[in-house]
Amino acid sequence: MLNIRIEKTTCPKELPAADNPLKFGTIFTDHMFLMNYETGKGWHDARIVPYGPIQLDPSAMVFHYGQEMFEGLKAYKSDDGRTILFRPDKNAERAINSNKRLCMPEISVDDFIQAVEAIVKVDEKWIPTKPGTSLYIRPFMFATDPFLGVRPSDTYLFAIILSPVGAYYPEGLNPVKIWIEDDYVRAIKGGIGEAKTGGNYVASLAAQVKAHEEGYSQVLWLDGKERKYIEEVGAMNIFFKIKGKIVTPMLNGSILPGVTRNSAIELCKSWGLEVEERRVSAEELYEASKDGSLEEVFGTGTAAVISPVGHLRFEDHDMQIGDGGIGEISQRLYDTITGIQLGKLEDKFGWTVEVK
Ligand code: COI
Repeated sequence: MLNIRIEKTTCPKELPAADNPLKFGTIFTDHMFLMNYETGKGWHDARIVPYGPIQLDPSAMVFHYGQEMFEGLKAYKSDDGRTILFRPDKNAERAINSNKRLCMPEISVDDFIQAVEAIVKVDEKWIPTKPGTSLYIRPFMFATDPFLGVRPSDTYLFAIILSPVGAYYPEGLNPVKIWIEDDYVRAIKGGIGEAKTGGNYVASLAAQVKAHEEGYSQVLWLDGKERKYIEEVGAMNIFFKIKGKIVTPMLNGSILPGVTRNSAIELCKSWGLEVEERRVSAEELYEASKDGSLEEVFGTGTAAVISPVGHLRFEDHDMQIGDGGIGEISQRLYDTITGIQLGKLEDKFGWTVEVK
């Protein structure tokens, strides 16, 4: 159990106006959570302080060798005024896995959730209530030893910042166009693709720039070995509806195990749909799109929730998915997941946690 010191700001910021579109990740709340780690001493000095710059030595190891990880989850306000988190235990567990892979110290599931609840409670008034909005929670940890040799750091800072957000993609729930990348590679089994760390995102930028230039908003990655099998989009996992079955790439060591991915699988199964977690090749998708059996494509992620895909580009082919609009399963998943998150639908799975 953490002993959290709270220092409230003396100059609170103005809350965003009701008509502010809350462009993803651009507005930050009044406070942040910080906690330090030192080998031999463990985690200490848990505190909530006014949001502001963090001073670091220019030689801090994170700047040079990228030893850092992060998480993403959201808080919602229900119509009856409750503050709700969605599956924070899953983020805490995934953070531990990332920490292990990156030789970073772990934070217990209970302490992680306690820290998230504490900072959300302090900045509760920042949770937006307009449809499609939420308070995005970004926990992150990085190496702070002032040292230029390559080894795991002995000191770390763990922080949590909060950002009121609208839709992740400017398209909102409207279908996005996605580029299947067959040149650059995001991750490979044995590497760090399964960990939530900045290195995976910087690896994606060159292909993302290329895709944007071609009019596509995101990149869909293929496996790094054979460059044949679909992996993930980087900001979300990917699902296909082929001949009535829901198909998603199986977790293979280089794909991020998404919390929304897991929730979508559980929901689809509970609706009696057949769900296959397996290898799926870009060629299979192309053939299925030609014979009309590729019925729906959508991405899942905390930031994006459910993002229907209207077009997929593979080699020289632009495949339109269905009529290019929002598919039936995408809409149903979006309505159900956001309904549970907002406390409007019964939480049969026990996924929500109320912050008191
Ligand atoms: C999330 O969905 O929370 C993520 O971390 C993806 C990020 C690129 C916004």
